[in-house]
Amino acid sequence: MVVGPAGSITYRIIKIGGSAITCKDVPHCFKVDVAKEISKQIARAIREGMDPILVHGGGSFGHYEASIVDEGTVTRTSHAMLTLNFLINSFLVKSGVMTYPIPGKFFTVDVTKSVIRQGMVPLLFGDILPDGKIISGDDIVVALGKELGLGIIFVTDVEGILSQDRVMECVDNDHAFPVMRTANPDVTGGILEKVRKVLNAGVEAVITSYKGENILRAMRGERVGTRVGKCG
Ligand code: IPE
Repeated sequence: MVVGPAGSITYRIIKIGGSAITCKDVPHCFKVDVAKEISKQIARAIREGMDPILVHGGGSFGHYEASIVDEGTVTRTSHAMLTLNFLINSFLVKSGVMTYPIPGKFFTVDVTKSVIRQGMVPLLFGDILPDGKIISGDDIVVALGKELGLGIIFVTDVEGILSQDRVMECVDNDHAFPVMRTANPDVTGGILEKVRKVLNAGVEAVITSYKGENILRAMRGERVGTRVGKCG
């Protein structure tokens, strides 16, 4: 684990969730304002000397196309992910972030490190393989977190994990699952699955919204959203 000045984990891997960057119920609907806000925070973090690793999901681009099963599923899903990556990357580049996109099908920790060594910001994304297998951005961030000893910031459309209408400060086991829910019931499954993956891999993560400069604050080591991993 990379340990920060206050003994805390360094949160550097940022998963831009499909729920944050796309409109859930509208296929291929991209949230321009969110892309601008996230890009602004990433650019600022870099100016402050931090070096993020970015990963984005599929939302109403990749997940939508993958859900329509016919002979064109793989082609359309792959195209949708490249389109979403182009859109997100356009805002990052415009904000001065020196990205280098890596489709999930080409993800390895080594290729990610090689991009960092060249002074660029890896921009990985969920993908689909020729046989139709989905590569989730969540699996990519967990693999990176484990291998590099870095914390993960899951950027979603909710403030964190809610229990009795309050944002939970920290979750370190899945016993709390029955009482956990999110402000948006439709994404509950997604968040619980993330929590399981994080706990099983033994990595550290926060689940947070992009609002209130929370991505930047999490990278600075401030407490935002819900921490997942070791509490206390
Ligand atoms: C999904 O990636 C990729 C495809 C559907 C091809 P994720 O599983 O990481 O996407 P989100 O963040 O949940 O939307």
